[in-house]
Amino acid sequence: MPSTKDLLQDAAARGIAYRDDIASREVAPLPDAVAGVGAFVEELAEQGTPDEVILAQLDEIGSPATVAMAGPRFFGFVVGGSYPVAVATNWLTTAWDQNVGAFDMTPTTSMLEFVSMSWMKELFGLPESAAAAFVTGATVANFSSLAAARNRVYTDIGWNVEADGLIAAPPVTIIIGDEAHPTLIKSLGLLGFGRERVVRVPVDRQGRMKVSGLPAIDGPSIVCTQAGNVNTGAFDPIGEICDLVRPQGAWVHVDGAFGLWAAASPAKCGLIEGVGKADSWATDAHKWLNVPYDSGVAFVRDADALKAAMSVTADYMMPENEFRKPSDFTPELSRRARGVDIWAALKSLGRRGVAELVDRCCAHARRFAEGFAAAGFDVLNDVVLNQVLISFGDDVTTRQVIEKIQQEGTCWCGVTVWQGKTAMRISVSNWSTTAEDVDRSLDAMISIAQSV
Ligand SMILES: Cc1ncc(COP(=O)(O)O)c(C=O)c1O
Repeated sequence: MPSTKDLLQDAAARGIAYRDDIASREVAPLPDAVAGVGAFVEELAEQGTPDEVILAQLDEIGSPATVAMAGPRFFGFVVGGSYPVAVATNWLTTAWDQNVGAFDMTPTTSMLEFVSMSWMKELFGLPESAAAAFVTGATVANFSSLAAARNRVYTDIGWNVEADGLIAAPPVTIIIGDEAHPTLIKSLGLLGFGRERVVRVPVDRQGRMKVSGLPAIDGPSIVCTQAGNVNTGAFDPIGEICDLVRPQGAWVHVDGAFGLWAAASPAKCGLIEGVGKADSWATDAHKWLNVPYDSGVAFVRDADALKAAMSVTADYMMPENEFRKPSDFTPELSRRARGVDIWAALKSLGRRGVAELVDRCCAHARRFAEGFAAAGFDVLNDVVLNQVLISFGDDVTTRQVIEKIQQEGTCWCGVTVWQGKTAMRISVSNWSTTAEDVDRSLDAMISIAQSV
């Protein structure tokens, strides 16, 4: 049996080799490598396997069958890569194996959550009083924010939703934009509000809510806005919506999975003007901040509402003390120390580095749009952020081109349908993407598109 030291060094060496290769390999795995993962399918053996054999098998079969999502030419979904410092601190934190539940048990990781929460609130212009929950991603950040919203709007009308649930509860009006992300709608379902019992507000050609389409606020209401449409990157007019509905008592939530990071850039913060007026905000760190999966954060202005929705007590748990207790704010009781990766990335970048990261990705997105437009292809969105939508002609042709791009391996982009038209979606969210990566990807994609 290898020593702990040998095993961890072997893992580190293999991880380093993987990352060394990531910019030069094909982005999609080769078909043989994908077929190779069948070798993992076996009966659970009676006898255990030596640790070093397990690691070697994982690397030799598993590594080639990964998509190079952490590399500079993966433009699918809105994925982001991972800064080396965040991977390194993640490895060390994994070795600590801390369960961030109470300060007394986990002083280091509790403190780093507190610090990274404070830094993010400052970067985004959110109220100092806001509480934060470190969760798996924007889906659960939306869920956590809306759980706090549910608590507050029901408390305001004298209904204890935590104790008495929703079955006999008075109705709450949920207002969403017609382009709300499906995970926000899923969160509404999980919270018992229903995925379809919502008032949908019409949107414009970029997917922004039309303020003129907002219903009058009547009774307990939650308005869900979006900072960064997953297709176009467009922003709802959040400040304007807050000014209209908050005086009527509505709670305003912002789904800012990637778009909230625009607030950190002096060049881009105009897009998200007034965001600090809302009541809750969901974002991801594993997207634009480029920390390893999984990492999202919910911020809630009314810390008591989040705590009322999330906290649990039991006789065996650590008692309350004056320090923030991380598990008071999250759906999970036990979890890993996500705040450390965020702290490391923010400390490494500084305020200026975060702004430069956002601006650089947006500039690369514009470069893509200009390159495709110059080659005669349609750019379907106003490229205000890091998302670009390209049409290669009719829907069938566009799908064919995207399939060939994915197979060719220089880069990887996904398919979407934007307001009835099939499109290729480019998201530039990786810290390591360079202008050369953009040009190389453009050359490959345009030559494929011209040959179809
Ligand atoms: C606007 C928006 N909200 C929510 C999500 C879900 O994020 P996650 O996959 O991190 O849960 C996404 C993912 O792309 C998104 O773009």
